[in-house]
Amino acid sequence: MWYALTHYYLLLEIPMPSPKETLSTLFRAAIQSSYGIEMDPSIQPASRPEFGDFQANFALRLAKQLHKNPQEVARALVEKLNSGPVFNKLEVSGPGFINIHLSKQFLAYHLEQLMQDSRLGVPRSSHPDTIVIDYGGANVAKEMHVGHLRSAIIGDAFVRLLSFIGHHVIRQNHLGDWGTQFGMLIEYLAESNWQNDHTHTYNDLNIYYKQAKQRFDTDETFANRARARVVALQSGENESRAIWQQLVDESKAHFQETYDRLQILLTPADAVGESFYNDQLAILTSELIERGVAEIDQGAVVIFLEGFTDADGNRFPFLIRKQDGGYLYATTDLAALYYRTQVLKANRVFYVVDARQRQHFAMLFAAGKKAFGLADSIQLEHIAYGSVLGEDHKPLKTRSGDSIKLNELLTEAEKRAAEMVLQKHPDLTPDELASIARNVGIGALKYADLRADKIKDYVFSWEKMLAFEGNTGPYLQNAYVRILAIFRKGNIDPNDLPPFQIQLHEIMEHALAIKLSAFPDVIDTISANLHIHSLCDYLYDVASHFHRFYEHCPVLSAADLNVRHSRIGLCALTARTLARGLSLLGINVMDKM
Ligand code: ARG
Repeated sequence: MWYALTHYYLLLEIPMPSPKETLSTLFRAAIQSSYGIEMDPSIQPASRPEFGDFQANFALRLAKQLHKNPQEVARALVEKLNSGPVFNKLEVSGPGFINIHLSKQFLAYHLEQLMQDSRLGVPRSSHPDTIVIDYGGANVAKEMHVGHLRSAIIGDAFVRLLSFIGHHVIRQNHLGDWGTQFGMLIEYLAESNWQNDHTHTYNDLNIYYKQAKQRFDTDETFANRARARVVALQSGENESRAIWQQLVDESKAHFQETYDRLQILLTPADAVGESFYNDQLAILTSELIERGVAEIDQGAVVIFLEGFTDADGNRFPFLIRKQDGGYLYATTDLAALYYRTQVLKANRVFYVVDARQRQHFAMLFAAGKKAFGLADSIQLEHIAYGSVLGEDHKPLKTRSGDSIKLNELLTEAEKRAAEMVLQKHPDLTPDELASIARNVGIGALKYADLRADKIKDYVFSWEKMLAFEGNTGPYLQNAYVRILAIFRKGNIDPNDLPPFQIQLHEIMEHALAIKLSAFPDVIDTISANLHIHSLCDYLYDVASHFHRFYEHCPVLSAADLNVRHSRIGLCALTARTLARGLSLLGINVMDKM
């Protein structure tokens, strides 16, 4: 009878402050009215359960300003606030911390609202930013490597998270599709009639690339023809252009296959590679010389930037044109920065690129400010990530010492996941198995990458990433699956739940409720500090709290019907939080695994 209404489809966007925000507002107002001072009360989740739900640590700062005793200041504020319906108890502890215990009614009411909200309490930004996210960045005619995999996975999570907040996100895949290295490859391919050979595969290009390089290094006449090819390509000569275009097309198609397989949102339209900026480089360079931003130094064009010196204290130049007239990676990036801030009008530009390029981006941002007078309000951020290491803590390689082929890595992830799933469900159809294995395998790979503090190198381990226990993708997907199993067993349609009253009698219910209500705070913090791994930690916390709750609090067998309903509600909200959180990381959930 209580599943008569189809409420899921009636979920609304209900703007509501999270408990933490409510507390901030209340304390801020109390400080203001007591002392006439505007101060951030710095409300934090309590570090230990006995300290309550939240802690406020402002009293020490405030007391200093007032030349008073911090405990007294804290006590005075507690007295002022104590009567409200939000608190069960406020207590002063230590040198002047305030421990905040929320009232059950307040928390229960908040959760009832959350259950109706399609966004789980996350507000849509009222001042959306225009954010360019530069990610992917593979190189034409080369295999993508694990570094590019990290860029794709991390960049995509930012795209999803920032779009969900309501920002205008523009994906840019800065493909390496231009440069002098194409001269030798084109010359080599022209020679071997590659264009008319329809049996070649993408992987063959790797071999051709190596062979072309070897010819270039050992055969002087070949090297000269290769150099002439660079000029021909730049001037738009037909054959060279055609071969280059075919290389680009085949590479893009190959990259797209990998992105699709990984369920990365990048599309061919997002590929705005280095070649896109090619015809702007000369104009940009001469303009910068004219305006005195760049200067000629020993025949090259450079920008000198404050604060960049070598070990001996000599100025370290940002090189934008070589002595031979060639332009560089840096020149293209400068043109791209102009395009992104001035044409696309981005006020935030994020580069999800290997940490080894730190110096390049630091100089690029300084050069951009100097060259285009970018306002300080424009946020330029290098979202750097470390290398992927093997279990021997050396850069990840195959047993024979070659670099790992990305597609083989993905195949392996799916294969291992399929073995795992098949053990539990020997009766799956091949299609079902393939789809679950893909979600589990790719999800595990993505999760392992995202949960690592991205700046550190991360150690790649199939066993760890695919484990059902611990902070892993499969653990979280499995938590979701377990909740769906509860619904199935109870013959409950989670998409068809009526609004019902939440009751928080047990400690585990209360603890889970606090976790669930913190989702918007976590998203808000990440959008400022960009620590995407804290979303992983949060989801892991939610799942762990859920398991503890489920161990202690019977759901379907709860004797009291109201308690049963309330617990079903907590289950449903947990499932939605897990599914939403994982989807922001680009990871799917499914109904069995
Ligand atoms: N293609 C480059 C590489 O493989 C990455 C490009 C990153 N984006 C950029 N705007 N520089 O290292």
